[in-house]
Amino acid sequence: AQLTPKLVIEETPLEEVEDDGTKKVTILFGTQTGTAEGFAKALAEEGKARYDNKVVFKVVDLDDYGADDRQYEEKIKREKLALFTVATYGDGEPTDNAARFYRWFIEGADREPFLTQLKYAVFGLGNRQYEHFNKVAIQVDEALEKQGGKRLVPCGLGDDDQCIDDDFTAWKEKLWPELDGLLRDEEDGPAAALPYKVAVPEYRVVMWESGIKLWEDTYAPKLNGQAIYDVNHPCRVDVAARRELHTPLSDRSCIHLELDIANTGIMYETGDHVGVYAPNSQENVEEAAKLLGLPLDTVFSLHADAEDGTVLGGGSGSLPPPFPGPLTLNSALSKYADLLNSPRKAVLSTLAVYASDPDEAKRLNHLASPQGKEEYQQWVIASQRSLLEVIGAFPSVKVPLGVFFAAVAPRLQPRFYSISSSPRFAPTRIHVTCALVYGPSPTGRIHQGVASTWMKNSLPSEKVGRAECSWAPVFVRQSNFRLPLDPMTPIVMIGPGTGLAPFRGFLQERATLQEAGETLGPAIFFFGCRTRRQDFIYEEELNDFVNKGVVELVVAFSREGPTKEYVQNKILEKASDVWRLISEGAYVYVCGDAKGMAKDVHRTLHTIVQSEGGVSGTKSEAIIKQLQVDGRYLRDVW
Ligand code: 2AM
Repeated sequence: AQLTPKLVIEETPLEEVEDDGTKKVTILFGTQTGTAEGFAKALAEEGKARYDNKVVFKVVDLDDYGADDRQYEEKIKREKLALFTVATYGDGEPTDNAARFYRWFIEGADREPFLTQLKYAVFGLGNRQYEHFNKVAIQVDEALEKQGGKRLVPCGLGDDDQCIDDDFTAWKEKLWPELDGLLRDEEDGPAAALPYKVAVPEYRVVMWESGIKLWEDTYAPKLNGQAIYDVNHPCRVDVAARRELHTPLSDRSCIHLELDIANTGIMYETGDHVGVYAPNSQENVEEAAKLLGLPLDTVFSLHADAEDGTVLGGGSGSLPPPFPGPLTLNSALSKYADLLNSPRKAVLSTLAVYASDPDEAKRLNHLASPQGKEEYQQWVIASQRSLLEVIGAFPSVKVPLGVFFAAVAPRLQPRFYSISSSPRFAPTRIHVTCALVYGPSPTGRIHQGVASTWMKNSLPSEKVGRAECSWAPVFVRQSNFRLPLDPMTPIVMIGPGTGLAPFRGFLQERATLQEAGETLGPAIFFFGCRTRRQDFIYEEELNDFVNKGVVELVVAFSREGPTKEYVQNKILEKASDVWRLISEGAYVYVCGDAKGMAKDVHRTLHTIVQSEGGVSGTKSEAIIKQLQVDGRYLRDVW
């Protein structure tokens, strides 16, 4: 008989809390790239200083907060004071680490109020350019109130398009007086004036003789049955193939890359995303080493405990070193340091500490202060000054290695791509379709995207062999972008530019199904590019799919005729077909740019529902909303 594997959920007992009268604040964060986590830790540090360490501030990753819904409930029920820093991603979605909590908390929002002893405040991290600005924070904030919590200050709406540090500061300035009322003892007297000086976190650095065994990047899978990879446990994979998708007539570049997942245990589904940890370019690594004043072959390791043995930040607030063993400075800088994003204000204050020229320190402190808001906005954000450029502009700044990795350079983040293949068609490979990020920044620097540049220059094993080829740690992230279960269900796909990626996977999958004898329902794909002769990517493949009857293809060329033609114009031209398919139960998929295209397409869909469906504006809203609720209008946008 076949054995069904049994899933054992370990019962992690809830830690017993004795109520010894100690005041406690729990800070929960939902973070993707670390900003919300950084804010949570900053809150804790400020709070500890503000209340002379008499109040316990506990920083907790929402994923670690409870192992299941029951634990979430048990824990949050017992909180008296909780602060949240939560980011909103993509199409109004929670971050990966907050997804489980969010689902449990928001979906259960109509349960009996059970948070009657909770006082709380929420700070959201979002971007106003996106449609669902701070949706997750707003919903968490509302649900907390609905479930009985008492809101201390209005939900902070951090806008990453402007200066999110200032939004955070403004929110904190409202929050502290409220917390003072709850946390300060009478005899403490009035709170000192803001802002509090926060100690700069630092790793203890150990230097090693060269020749010591370096911590190898052991991303190779441990194949103990089934390997599970994620953002913290990526798998090393080789680049198998690479080719340019644009023609020489194009002044841009778009790369087709194939990652070799044979024998790794990596599995994926059509529509999933792949996260890629690509290294920095050698040029940037060398510049960083120069600014640090250290040779690239310096071998060192980082440790989270300070010299005297105390753990930095205290308990869960301490930062885990980015890598666990000795490494060369070259590897450390190329794999673990984000060198190109603009530094946050807190980084500028840290740099000021290490400026030997008082004028430089003054200028850095000014840029980091609320008074320097306009200048910071102009000189750093609007100018897209990279961390390297900023450090380079202050020659007297000499940052110690342990500070650089702990408080100056954020961890280099993985980049996500919509996988452009189907495992039915390419079981041992993950295909990626990636536009090269390349262009002058306002300061005249040529900005080259980390991952796309790495992909463009990567050496595929098909050309150079497995020993010499490029590789990267990767992992697969599931998405909800899935074909309907029944291949007869009609589908409408909209994806200009690299928005094509998941649809190439869809079409491969449909072609495979068709070859296996399945009958396919209608499918229409709206693609858009500049001109047929420059950037009509995968043109031959797409025509093949058309000839096989796998799809109807409609292409909008934006720079061929005298007027721009975009996918939404083509959708309007085909309004009656699109409406007919939707009426017949079609799934509608949109992939690509969120700020322009997806918004415009969304409006166009409204227009079509109104004109073709003959309904009012409010009715069309309701119809589209229902499509979303039914999971028939799916968006993979960035
Ligand atoms: P453009 O660059 O000529 O303006 C893929 O990038 C295609 O998407 C290009 O043809 C691009 O046109 C087009 N595009 C740009 N903005 C768009 C928008 N808001 N809606 C739809 N397509 C858009």
